[in-house]
Amino acid sequence: MIKPMPRTVLLNPGPVNITDKVRKAMALPDLCHREKEFADLMFSIRSKLLQAFKIEETFTSVLVSGSGTAALEMAVSSSLTPGRSMLVIENGVYGERIGKICDVYNLDRHTIHLEWGTPPNLEDIENILKKQSDIEVVSLVHHETTTGLLNPLKGIGELAKKYGKIFLVDCISSLAGDEVDFASIDLAVGTANKCLQGVPGVSFVLTRKKDLDRLGKIPSRTLYFDLTGYHKAQEKGGLLFTPAIPAHYALDVALDELIEETVSGRIDRYAKAANFLREGFKNLNLEFLVPEGWRSNCLTGLKLPKGTGYEKLHKELKANGFVIYAGQGNLSDSIFRIANMGDIHPEEYQRFLKVLGSVC
Ligand SMILES: Cc1ncc(COP(=O)(O)O)c(C=O)c1O
Repeated sequence: MIKPMPRTVLLNPGPVNITDKVRKAMALPDLCHREKEFADLMFSIRSKLLQAFKIEETFTSVLVSGSGTAALEMAVSSSLTPGRSMLVIENGVYGERIGKICDVYNLDRHTIHLEWGTPPNLEDIENILKKQSDIEVVSLVHHETTTGLLNPLKGIGELAKKYGKIFLVDCISSLAGDEVDFASIDLAVGTANKCLQGVPGVSFVLTRKKDLDRLGKIPSRTLYFDLTGYHKAQEKGGLLFTPAIPAHYALDVALDELIEETVSGRIDRYAKAANFLREGFKNLNLEFLVPEGWRSNCLTGLKLPKGTGYEKLHKELKANGFVIYAGQGNLSDSIFRIANMGDIHPEEYQRFLKVLGSVC
C-alpha cells in the first residue's frame, strides 16, 4: 500500500481537492450496477446535473464512465449526420483534440486553426458559416485549459443559431467555474473531477431534448461511446457497460454540495480566488499569458520568471504542499499554470502566494 500523504493543495486543473463528505461517499457499500440501487443513484445524478444548472425543462443528461475525453468523444462521434461536416475551432490542445476525434471517426470538418491563446474572430466564423452550408455542427472549447483563455461562447453560440447549426461545447473545465450560457448550446460536455468537485471516473453530456430525434437517426459509429444508446439505456434505468461506481457515489454527493452552494455561488467563490491570486502574481511581477478580459475564472497561465525552470518551481512548491501545472506542447518551457478549482481554502491561497514569492 502507498503511504498516505498529508493534504496537498492541487493547483492543477483537475483532479481537484474534494471535501471529506465527497471522499467518504466513495466508501459507500459495494453495489451491483444491475440493481435498483444503482439505477436510483444514476437517476439522482442525472437529475441533479440538470437541477444545478437549471436546465431541467430543455435538457437531458447522459453519464459515461471515463475521463472528460470519454464524454467529448461520445458527443463528437454521435452528433454529426453522415454527409455533413463539423466546424472545429482550434486555439489550444483541447480544440485540437476535437479535431483529432473528428479524424479518428473520418468526420468531415472545417477548421479555424489559431495560435494557442489567440481568441477566434467572430467575423471569420460567420464567413465560414455563410459559405459552407455542409456544416451541421459548430464545436467549441469554452475554457481552453491549455492557456486559461475563455472563448467567446455567447457570440459563437448566437452565430450557430443564426445559421441554424447545432452547437457542441466542451465545458469540461468551465462548468460550475465560469458562467455557461445554455441558451444556444445543444450539447455540453462536462466531467466530475473539475469544478463539480467530484472524482475522476465519470463524465457526461448534457443534450437538448429537442435534438434527441435528430441524434437518434445518426447511425452509431462506435460501440462504447454511442450517445443515443447510452441515453436510451439510462432512461430505462439501465446501462450498457460496467460503470465506475465509487465515482458515481462521489458525484452524487458533490452535486448536493454544488446545489447547496449554487452554481453562481461557486462561480463567485472561484472568481474571488482567481482575483486574489492574480493580485499576488502582479505583486510578484509575474507576466500573464492571457490578457485581462479573456481569462477564465479557474486557471491562470503565467510566464516562467527569467532564470527559473519549471522543474525547480514545481519541486520547491510541492515540497511545501502545493502542486502546480506545467505548460503543454511548445509552451512547456515558457509557462506554468495555476488553477483555482476545488475545495481550497482562502488561507491556503495566501500561504501559496507567500511560498511562491520566496521561490521566485
Ligand atoms: C477543456 C478540456 N477538454 C478536455 C479535457 C480532457 O479531459 P480528461 O483529461 O478528463 O480526459 C480537459 C482536461 O483537462 C480539458 O481541460
